[in-house]
Amino acid sequence: MREFNEKSLIRYAKDYFLKRRITFLNEVNSTNTYAKTLCSQGKGAGALVVADSQTAGRGRRGRSFVSNPDAGVYFSAVYTLSGEEKAAGLLTSLAGLAVRDALYSLYNLQCTIKWPNDILCEGKKLCGILCEAVNENGRAKYAVVGIGLNVQKQDFPDELSLTAGSIADFYDGEIDRSELVAEIVFHLDRLVLKRRALMGHDAHEYTALLKKYSDTVGKQVKVILPDSEEYAEAIDIADNGGLVVKTMYETKVLTAGEVVHPR
Ligand code: BTN
Repeated sequence: MREFNEKSLIRYAKDYFLKRRITFLNEVNSTNTYAKTLCSQGKGAGALVVADSQTAGRGRRGRSFVSNPDAGVYFSAVYTLSGEEKAAGLLTSLAGLAVRDALYSLYNLQCTIKWPNDILCEGKKLCGILCEAVNENGRAKYAVVGIGLNVQKQDFPDELSLTAGSIADFYDGEIDRSELVAEIVFHLDRLVLKRRALMGHDAHEYTALLKKYSDTVGKQVKVILPDSEEYAEAIDIADNGGLVVKTMYETKVLTAGEVVHPR
């Protein structure tokens, strides 16, 4: 197995011209929690926190994220927000695009994005994304983009065994986890820092890509919100990254919650 540590990450960061302050940890409770602590200590700008394993990896809706040693990549990239962002809500979707692009360019995998941001390969979830804000003086000052990606084949808990998968299920070659992290962050930094996508630039272009790679648009879905569930047809991705759904009564844009695709 290839090296996965601070040195190997710094080497790739140099190759990719990534301007990041890298922290590598063999084990941490959650890279998102660690990155948020850095932010609250004033050390968040440009931080990239990467771990070989997490003892309390967190997913959306209070779920945990399986984060075994030597099995995946678990990392959090911090972006400083100016307060002028018109499209901050696009961040989770952009992270999904960045992961998709990286898996295609490194391993030729054709992944799809289950709204809002699970990355699937042949219907199996390889990756989850959890974005969190850190507030300062009453406004969001930092966005922490947490990405967990299953790399090696592994035994998932029973409840995930039918839905979860790993890159190695679909790619036979050797996987260099440092290269993988650098490639994903490279794509995400390109969208967020270089193309200033959170300022609302080229939103149509990104939503067209999100629609093209969507695993959700065109399907009948069950929409799950904190206090309700309903059936709908997913028909489009809105410019803010929301999912446009048509229920029996109305057409609306979902910006929160999640959907399941009944089989
Ligand atoms: C989900 O599938 O609901 C989202 C999972 C996000 C997991 C990643 S792993 C790195 C970062 N640290 C965490 O605690 N969670 C995210």
